[in-house]
Amino acid sequence: MNAIYSLVFVFALVLIPLFGVGAAQQTYFFGVCVPWTAFLIFLVFFTAKIIKWASRPVPFSIPTTAGQQWSNLDFIVHDKYDNPATTGQTWIRMILEVFAFRSLFRNTSMRVAMKDGKPIVGYFSAKWLWLFALMFHYAFFTIAVRHLRLFLNPVPKVFEILETLDGLLQIGIPRLYLTDMVIVAAVMFLLLRRVAVPTVRYISQVADYFPLLLILAIAASGIYMRYYAKVDVVAIKQLILGMVTLHPVKPIPATIDISFFIHLFLVSTLIFYFPFSKLMHLGGVFLSPTRNMPNDSRFVRHVNPWNDPNIKPHSYAAYEDDFRTPMIAAGLPVDKEA
Ligand code: HEM
Repeated sequence: MNAIYSLVFVFALVLIPLFGVGAAQQTYFFGVCVPWTAFLIFLVFFTAKIIKWASRPVPFSIPTTAGQQWSNLDFIVHDKYDNPATTGQTWIRMILEVFAFRSLFRNTSMRVAMKDGKPIVGYFSAKWLWLFALMFHYAFFTIAVRHLRLFLNPVPKVFEILETLDGLLQIGIPRLYLTDMVIVAAVMFLLLRRVAVPTVRYISQVADYFPLLLILAIAASGIYMRYYAKVDVVAIKQLILGMVTLHPVKPIPATIDISFFIHLFLVSTLIFYFPFSKLMHLGGVFLSPTRNMPNDSRFVRHVNPWNDPNIKPHSYAAYEDDFRTPMIAAGLPVDKEA
């Protein structure tokens, strides 16, 4: 049901500009007011959330570790990037996490098999999620960077090179971008995984399906615009440049196809929704103390900044000095005899 609700919701979102522009001719509202407002909301709430997270105190050393900790015994092999001990090693761990999704690479699937009438649990390496998640994020990123040609005049050479590389297969006119195929395939896989795997379906909410379906609808409308509607990109760029320079063109060029307004409305919904959704992992990954701290609590003293200075520390040695006689009487072991 959660998947169906999300699907209905995305359909409803498509209908809004379809009627708003198609029937009511509100091109200025959908072409300028909606994206501006969405961007403003994104900027304010994204920044506010990052500031809120960054200002939270981190009183304890709580990195998650998945390998051997550093030791001064040279026969113990230190796992530098799964259990970093220095800031440098932690940086490398973070870079590998952000650019290669290293923790997802360890993803496993669990299966229960029956042997002699008894269930046995087995864990298997499951790299598909890692692969498709990586494909999805890189395709999304490349498409977003490629879009900058619509926002910049003149277009820097580097974007032209990126476009040439993305269209390397030279299929069709206009040339088919590899990232267009990759993003659709990857989002479909991520959706199917949520629908088809019973354990994942059980924990999937509307908030999990909705962003995937919304991104799929954005990609589909973009693909439709480029390969089927063959929209008037010159007029669209005029509109976009007007928007970014805060001098919106009026009236909106009549040659712009309605599919552009649908694409833009869906993108506006995504950026408006972004700061309130799980998509905030974009900023959150850098602020996660379980990832961005070195595991150095054996050789660096972490003092809790919330400690009340009026409460004096009471060491175990002092505790034993206070209670040695009753401890011995109760038969408890003590470090120092009476
Ligand atoms: C979440 C961000 C966005 C995504 C994922 C996205 C996705 C896509 C995709 C997959 C295409 C197909 C062709 C291509 O890959 O270039 C496309 C085309 C297009 N998009 Fe977007 N888009 C986004 C944001 C925007 C924004 C903000 C605008 C304008 C303000 C825009 C305007 C266009 C236009 C005009 C085309 C047609 C380009 C052409 O014909 O070559 N898109 N989009």
